[in-house]
This record gives sequence, structure tokens and C-alpha cells, in this order.
Amino acid sequence: MISAEQNEQMTRVGRGTPCGKLLRRYWQPVALADEMQGPRPVRAVRIMGEDLVLFREGGRYGLIERQCAHRGADLAYGRLEDGGLRCSFHGWLYAADGRCVQTPAEPEGSRLCENIRLRAYPVVEKSGILFAYLGEGEAPAFPHFDAFIAPAEYTFAFKGYWDCNWLQALEVGIDPSHASWLHKFFEDEDPTASYGRQFRGVPSDAQIPISKVLREFDRPEIRIERTDYGMRLQTLRRLSDAHTHIRVTNVLFPQAFVIPMNAEMTISQWHVPVDDTGCYWYSIFTSYGAPVDKATMRNQRLKTYPAPDYRPIYHRGNHWGFDDEQQRKQTFTGMGFDINIHDQWACESQGPIADRTRENLGSQERSGRATADGLARRQGTRAARAAGH
Ligand code: FES
Ligand SMILES: [Fe+2]
Repeated sequence: MISAEQNEQMTRVGRGTPCGKLLRRYWQPVALADEMQGPRPVRAVRIMGEDLVLFREGGRYGLIERQCAHRGADLAYGRLEDGGLRCSFHGWLYAADGRCVQTPAEPEGSRLCENIRLRAYPVVEKSGILFAYLGEGEAPAFPHFDAFIAPAEYTFAFKGYWDCNWLQALEVGIDPSHASWLHKFFEDEDPTASYGRQFRGVPSDAQIPISKVLREFDRPEIRIERTDYGMRLQTLRRLSDAHTHIRVTNVLFPQAFVIPMNAEMTISQWHVPVDDTGCYWYSIFTSYGAPVDKATMRNQRLKTYPAPDYRPIYHRGNHWGFDDEQQRKQTFTGMGFDINIHDQWACESQGPIADRTRENLGSQERSGRATADGLARRQGTRAARAAGH
């Protein structure tokens, strides 16, 4: 059981909050590289309650405060030119490092801009995602996760918005037992037509569709281990005396995980707070077999999470597409065949910030929570030490 105070501490992410400070000590996804294509690579970014603008000019990325230092106009509508982003109101020009480098409406020889600087954060592109470091001090090194070191043709990145606190999104993502329920399909499809989709296809070294494994073996044994990067969860389904299906979830502290998508690919996923009541998931799909067919995977996902905002077409306002006849006949949720929508409902229907003081956890969830709690304490202490507190 969690106290109201603990629930608040774990979920609030603004600057200066304990959790906000902790998350800011890690590189955070802020946009897809896909979003910065085209003739005007400028995007408004809201992350952990901060309103920023991301731009690329002269081959450099800048991520700076969104409100102009002059009179607060919105720089997301600015002009990309002369090596920076120029405010459309009086033409002040900002470099990628946040310095104001021109105030053209001032008299000739004005030195007004010399002391003007917007907050700016470093940005690095990794495997189709732009990551920023919003913390104090020097940014940490990037970890050598497979998703980061795989050649570009073997990864594909995508994202989607969920209208709830980031922590419940993370909790759903690493929950090992829900796959047999939330994502239950009553019928198996032809596994050869499953490219790019989760919980279809056939597990490695097996002949039966994964949808059948999940449906028929719905009380998995879960093993939890602490590791130096976070936690490893092993979900075991004993198919016969000779065969056990094992699914591994690696939890990368503080808010990412790596799960199998099918026998060939993994999904590395971050749950990134937009603010306290909204978040984006960012995924890197990594293939250990053939190069990824990015066009197919992108088109599959854009159908339910369309650009430019990657907000889902199903949501609370249209009951997440719920269809009672489908719930009787085809899927456990009655919310279609895109498993992202199932997960989205599981997250969003708990409310904007889940009230963990009222939950009654199952036995395996309790040990998972205890392990995560120990990890968070240890990392929190380390982060506080690194920040000089
Ligand atoms: S408000 Fe931006 S230049 Fe004046
Ligand atoms: Fe799920």
C-alpha cells in the first residue's frame, strides 16, 4: 500500500519536484527524427511541464524555452534563418545554445542582446529519436543498449500520446500477466501475415501462435531480479513437460523497458511525461534478423496514432472504440486489434493520476513493487549525491 504523499512524490515531474529532478538526470526523448524532416524543422515540445521549442538550423539542433525573452511571444511560430530561430514579433534571433544574437529593432550598435539568454538543453539523435538532457551539470554518457548501437537499417522509431500520468503507463508496460487478458484474441491469425505486429506470429523455437500461448496459459509464473540497469522480469508459461515459454522484460531505470515484439524484434520503450497528466511513449523497434521495413511499420502505426501530434484516434471521448459485440466474439477488450489501444485504455481509464492508495495488488505485483521501490531509493540517493545534496 502506498501513501498519498508517496503517490504524489512518484508522479509529479515539474522542475524542483523530487521525481522531476530524478528524471532530468537521464537523457529523455523529446521528438522523433521523422518530425524534423521537411522544409521547416521546428516543433513545439512540452516535456515534464516545460514548454520548449526544438529546431534545426545550420546542421545543429537547438532546444530552447518557447517564450521569447523580449515580450514572451511564441517562438514555435518563429522563422528559421541566419543560423538560428528568429522571433516573428520583433525579430530577435536565438542560437541553438539559447543566446540571443540579434535584436534588430534596436538602434544600430545596441548591446541589449549580450546579456540575454534563454534556457537551452543539449540534443542528440539516437536511432530515430532526439534525446535531450534537461538536468543540471554535465549530461551522462549514453548506455550501450542494443537499440542505440544497432545499425540504422535495423531500427525503427515511433511514438504515441496517452492522456495520463507517465508512471501508470510505465506500470502497464512492464506488467507481465496482463498479456494473457488485456491482449487476448479469441482467434489466431495466419502467423505469416503478422509482420510488425505484437502478440501475433510465433515465438522462437515453437510452432504455436503466440496468441494461443497467451490465451491458454494465463497464470504465468513471474520471476523478478534486480540488475545494475534496473530489473529483469521473467514470465514463464509451462506449455508441456518439455517446453516452457519464457518472455523477458528488462526494466531500464528510471522509465524505460525492453520487451520482445516477436521472434525477431525487441521494443525499447520510454514513457516520457509531457506534464503530470499526459505522456508520450517512444519506441525503438530493433531487429536481430532482417533490416526493418520502416515504411510498413510506420504506416501500420500512423493509422491509429496519426502525425503530426501522434494522438490516438481512439480515446476517452469515443470510449476507446469499444464495441460490445466484438468483446463477445473476438477480443477480450472489445477495443480492436491494435494492442496499443488496449494498453492505452488500461492506463487512461485509471484516471489522470492513478490513486495508488486504493489499489489491492496481487502477490507478484507486490514483490515487483518492493523491488522497484528499493531500486528507486538507491538511485534517488545516488542522483541526489551526484547533484550535491
Ligand atoms: S517578443 Fe520576440 S522579439 Fe519581441
Ligand atoms: Fe500491453
